[in-house]
Amino acid sequence: MLSDRFGRSIDYLRVSVTDRCDLRCTYCMPKHFKDFEDPPDWLSFDEIERVVGAFVRLGTSRVRLTGGEPLMRRHLPQLAGRLKALPGLADLSLSTNATQLTRHAEDLKAAGISRINVSLDSLDRDCMSRITGRDSLPLILDGLKAAKEAGFAPIKINMVAMRGVNDDEIDDMVEFCIRHQFVLRLIEVMPVGATGQDSSYLGLAEVQARLKEKFQLRPQALELGGGPARYLATADGLTSIGFITPLSQHFCASCNRVRLAVDGTLYLCLGQEEKFELRPLLRGGCSDAELEQAIRQAIELKPQQHDFNQRPDKIIRFMSQTGG
Ligand code: GTP
Ligand code: 5AD
Ligand code: SF4
Repeated sequence: MLSDRFGRSIDYLRVSVTDRCDLRCTYCMPKHFKDFEDPPDWLSFDEIERVVGAFVRLGTSRVRLTGGEPLMRRHLPQLAGRLKALPGLADLSLSTNATQLTRHAEDLKAAGISRINVSLDSLDRDCMSRITGRDSLPLILDGLKAAKEAGFAPIKINMVAMRGVNDDEIDDMVEFCIRHQFVLRLIEVMPVGATGQDSSYLGLAEVQARLKEKFQLRPQALELGGGPARYLATADGLTSIGFITPLSQHFCASCNRVRLAVDGTLYLCLGQEEKFELRPLLRGGCSDAELEQAIRQAIELKPQQHDFNQRPDKIIRFMSQTGG
């Protein structure tokens, strides 16, 4: 088992398979971002499988595929199938914007993806166009339908709650999720890259208190994934609402994860710059034992927590590089 200097067990790896995306969400992507051919510094599927294999031998049991938008990486279901076959990997999941799920949901399910989280910030078509830079809502709703039909359950909806942007739609989103039996997660916007550092930040404590009252929410007993959300459930137990509060009530003390970027950089914290380059080792012909040793060494660099609150201007990395 991997554990860091602060005694935390690290058993959850987020793997970003591309930094490209077909959307341009204001809080995630740079505005002028160009798509190129697969650059030579991207890890191949063989290389990704090798790194994930090493993590799994070191005790990682959960892997989440992220992007950019992971379905922008061609043949993603093939990669999923290869990772799922690694002995010891219990939970393989995907975070997606859902615009391409109509095409890929069945293949992803067959490949062994067990859980899907979908970004959906609004049910208003114009508002979604403003947030994502494209008329994305119809595609996303079709994608969600396809994911349901393919048998993914529960599907989680990620809504980044932004003051003056979509905060008047939170109750509608709760009702939408109750209707469709989706798990809803409300997320505080994090100040990363050049985005998110504006007046749209909305702390979720008051929202949580209000929703608790209005929808008669109570503590959720079930475990719903391995992430940082804290969950409440409706009285009938059929719908759960998670609150992801990196700024107002952070969860770093129980952090269990690190992130692999598509160029082989291992980022030790979402909100800090500590990193370790694995690509030179992989391409320099390292042995499996050397790779595992390098990963142990990298985990030593994991910082205690982010300092988004103290230094909101510090982070230069865009969320699209590490997939949230
Ligand atoms: P499960 O709980 O396993 O379903 O996944 P998850 O919630 O960890 O993954 P997802 O990709 O859906 O992320 C939801 C939100 O949580 C995104 O806004 C992420 O940026 C945020 N998030 C996930 N992990 C961390 C973390 O370690 N630190 C911080 N600060 N935010 C995180
Ligand atoms: N703050 C909070 N959440 C973010 N995401 C992307 N950028 C940010 C940000 N700046 C979320 C997306 C997606 C998840 C993987 O990360 O909404 O659902
Ligand atoms: Fe872990 Fe860093 Fe996220 Fe805190 S901000 S939970 S330490 S990755």
